[in-house]
Amino acid sequence: MRIRYLGLVASTLVSSLASPVDWEQRSFHSLDEPNEIRSLQLGQINFLQTTDTHGWLGSHPNQPDYDADWGDFVSFVDLFKRNRLGLNSDKGGKQDLLIIDTGDKHDGSGYSDATSPNGLESTKIFNEMDYDLLTLGNHELYDGDRASLEYYSTVMSSKFKDKYVASNVDFILDDGTRVPFGNRYVYLETSVNKIKILTFSFIFNFQKENNRAKVTSPVESLQEEWFIEAISKYPEDKIDMIIVFGHTPARDDTDHELLTIHQILRQYYPDIIIQYFGGHSHIRDFVQFDSKATCLQSGRFAETVGFLSIDNVSNSSPLISRRYIDFNKRSFKYHSNSTTLATERGAKVSHKLKLLRQSLQLDRQYGVTPRNYYMMTRPIDSEENIYQMIKSHVLPLLQSTLVESDTLSPYRYVMLNTGAVRFDLYRGPFTKDTEYSVLPFANVWQYIKLNSKVAREIEGYLNKLPIIAKLSPPQQLSLSHGVVSHGVNGCPFITDPGLSEGYTTWDDFGCDGDDTPHKSQRIYPLPNVIQYNNLAGRAIEDDDNDDIIVDFIFFSFLSDDILKAVNQIDETRRYNQDDIMEYGGKSAKELLREFISGVSST
Ligand SMILES: *[C@@H]1O[C@H](CO)[C@@H](O)[C@H](O)[C@H]1NC(C)=O
Ligand SMILES: *[C@@H]1O[C@H](CO)[C@@H](O)[C@H](O)[C@H]1NC(C)=O
Ligand SMILES: [Zn+2]
Ligand SMILES: [Zn+2]
Repeated sequence: MRIRYLGLVASTLVSSLASPVDWEQRSFHSLDEPNEIRSLQLGQINFLQTTDTHGWLGSHPNQPDYDADWGDFVSFVDLFKRNRLGLNSDKGGKQDLLIIDTGDKHDGSGYSDATSPNGLESTKIFNEMDYDLLTLGNHELYDGDRASLEYYSTVMSSKFKDKYVASNVDFILDDGTRVPFGNRYVYLETSVNKIKILTFSFIFNFQKENNRAKVTSPVESLQEEWFIEAISKYPEDKIDMIIVFGHTPARDDTDHELLTIHQILRQYYPDIIIQYFGGHSHIRDFVQFDSKATCLQSGRFAETVGFLSIDNVSNSSPLISRRYIDFNKRSFKYHSNSTTLATERGAKVSHKLKLLRQSLQLDRQYGVTPRNYYMMTRPIDSEENIYQMIKSHVLPLLQSTLVESDTLSPYRYVMLNTGAVRFDLYRGPFTKDTEYSVLPFANVWQYIKLNSKVAREIEGYLNKLPIIAKLSPPQQLSLSHGVVSHGVNGCPFITDPGLSEGYTTWDDFGCDGDDTPHKSQRIYPLPNVIQYNNLAGRAIEDDDNDDIIVDFIFFSFLSDDILKAVNQIDETRRYNQDDIMEYGGKSAKELLREFISGVSST
């Protein structure tokens, strides 16, 4: 099998450090039935990883492929330990299991986002999982409240204080003192096979500060005293394995952060397994750095539980296997070899979720979404694209509440940045929780009066910029790392009509990583902004009508980008904040609700 390396750095590492493994000798489970679940190949040590859950603890109510909630996940892990690994029984088991999370637990669902501070209740439920190793992502650092919540509820908890690792993040106490945001490193020995492991955890070099936390770049932190201490206390001959888990993408062709970390670690540990677990770019991925170092990354939004096993740990060619488990009851039952899923503990967690959902009124229903609307897996102009729906049905509903009608132009544009939408909208009940996942932010509309000749250039101008409103369009996060999130580039595109749409992951071990074969999805590029205008069929686009004045309406946080655009486009005058006025009207979120309730047959 061909192995793709991450450019020069990796290839140099591979040739200088360890001889590449002949991956042909690995036996891949092949599928006789296309919709058969691919099984897990257990090893001496096994891992389950979650990452970028973003509050999605209550399952995906309108997506049957992700129908498990956090309680089901707890049940799955209990049953998996018992039935597959023989742990929790008198026999003691033959294989070890470590459960890992790599951060980003806010912003995506009402469970986390409908409380203040954000995550107040969801953190307790998330922490019901018996993680062996956990850390934080950038979403735990967006404000001081979140950082404090994470620190006091999780880092300092008796359950996790020996398991929380943050090699390059500090927390700032009330009195201003900087303390490590958890352990800089953790040494552990597994219970069954007594595998001696040294662990580190790095978040990418995230520099949007809040007043309660500070991130040091991974490379800088590797020069600090704690690292010198760790490597002298646990040199290569005293341990069996290093684990580096953290909120850093497995594949990063721009900054190469993990590879740089790997290069430094290999100087001190030239011949040992270094197993990485990554996150942040919201994709399923698996990357091979050298014959004893790979990185698993387990997707996003509780759609995936990543599985990895290592067998023949002390052999010169350890056997590594990976699998992306769809976060649903069918897969959980299959891999735990059980006919029923709920354990007592798991059922309790599901019950807590139900109570939380009730108290936050997340089930409050505003209507029924008639069909699926996708962000990136349908062309932008498709009837099944959410932006097309917003453009043609939602933005036209906007009515000014602040401007006298005789001041308004009969012509208008309404612009939305694509980053305002966070998730696909699926057919089924449209609830308060749906709003939190799809279009959570209330916004204020502003407008500027412009010559139509200027107004019609803005969209094109903004869509040529790499980012706007300090945000990339949503897919950039995944595309920029070389692998398309539902990436099929190097894999057969599956069209079997008997399968549901979902991930076909292409990674360094090939195309068989997903536990459930799906009908493949194509990813279409997203522009920065979309807009509706009411000029269709009117002659305004002609040069003859250049002097027509239009109202150009946009999200208030786009105002800097709009001013930049009009000042570039129109060289005859200078626009500034005084040209921008309040438009009023319902927020995009309220307009979407209005549209869905309007089309719902109740
Ligand atoms: C794994 O280890 C076992 C026992 O040491 C050995 O018999 C087996 O050949 C090894 N497998 C591979 C593929 O190296
Ligand atoms: C699943 O359970 C059955 C019945 O206990 C057992 O015979 C079988 O070996 C198990 N399969 C796996 C993969 O553990
Ligand atoms: Zn994330
Ligand atoms: Zn992140």
